[in-house]
Amino acid sequence: MKITEQIKQPIAYEMELFEQKFRLSMASKVALLNRITHYIVNRKGKQMRPMFVFLVAKMLNNGEVSERTYRGASVIELIHTATLVHDDVVDDSNRRRGFFSINALWKNKIAVLIGDYLLSKGLLLSIDNNDFDLLKIISVAVREMSEGELLQIEKARQLDITEDIYYDIIRQKTATLIAACCSLGAASVKPNSSEVETMRKFGELIGMAFQIKDDLFDYGEEKIGKPTGIDIKEQKMTLPLIYVLNNCTKKEKSWLINSVKNHNKDKIRVKEVITFVKSNGGLDYAISKMKDFQQEALNLLHNYPESPYKASLQLMVNYVIDRKK
Ligand code: IPE
Ligand code: IPE
Ligand code: MG
Ligand code: MG
Repeated sequence: MKITEQIKQPIAYEMELFEQKFRLSMASKVALLNRITHYIVNRKGKQMRPMFVFLVAKMLNNGEVSERTYRGASVIELIHTATLVHDDVVDDSNRRRGFFSINALWKNKIAVLIGDYLLSKGLLLSIDNNDFDLLKIISVAVREMSEGELLQIEKARQLDITEDIYYDIIRQKTATLIAACCSLGAASVKPNSSEVETMRKFGELIGMAFQIKDDLFDYGEEKIGKPTGIDIKEQKMTLPLIYVLNNCTKKEKSWLINSVKNHNKDKIRVKEVITFVKSNGGLDYAISKMKDFQQEALNLLHNYPESPYKASLQLMVNYVIDRKK
């Protein structure tokens, strides 16, 4: 059995129902909107965020979820989808999930509006059902994601990023949403319990490993359904490059900085930078940091009793760093 099927086994029923509810949550009276949201739901992603929501809820509540859990999972996936649509505008990227991105097909203007629409549908799903505790978790994540993406742009302009700032960026732009999945999963069944904070931390650690993995993909040539080698082009400095910048000669450092600053659209030069990063241990270093986060996340699960849900969560943590897309 494939690892993802194994992970999904204890939440197979919930994921199927989730997919129906998720589809319905996007419906609109505007035909153009429906055409585009159809396009989106028919090219679904890995759905890791709803999986985290259901697995955490079931682990903490003897295998039971509630309607709040379903709504929480839909809200998170709506918001995740909205940020991807916007992110591809921001990053000027033309592929997503193995197909054309929304901006590639319908241009930036429509992509921005679609992202806003999905965001508002997500927020309303919580509001209309009085899930205000969940809405708070989600709204914090949305604010953090926007701040994270802007911090990244600010640092890309100044080219003075440190390893700690990199962690701040990925914590904000990616880890907080996965943290929100896990704390929301907990809050949906055990509101006001200490598990909500433990699970938030658990999700945050996974989220850190998750984004380091995503940044490693960008250095590879594997087919992952979206472009690779575009981070340097967008002047995005990620952990492999940051490590190498801090561990090379002054001369090499100015060559690297100059490449990212002034030659980032030159394909040959970008290839040279990638090769330099690879041969100077940048990827190995990022991999080892990713594994540290993975281990810390696994440690937080130790105290929970064994169950199929806990076992799947452990597999999920490993999948985050072993995944092929
Ligand atoms: C992509 O997230 C955006 C990042 C935070 C790196 P996913 O890799 O979970 O995207 P999908 O939903 O599976 O396409
Ligand atoms: C994640 O960063 C962005 C979001 C939090 C939406 P990336 O820009 O690296 O994500 P991908 O690689 O386009 O999915
Ligand atoms: Mg992007
Ligand atoms: Mg990326």
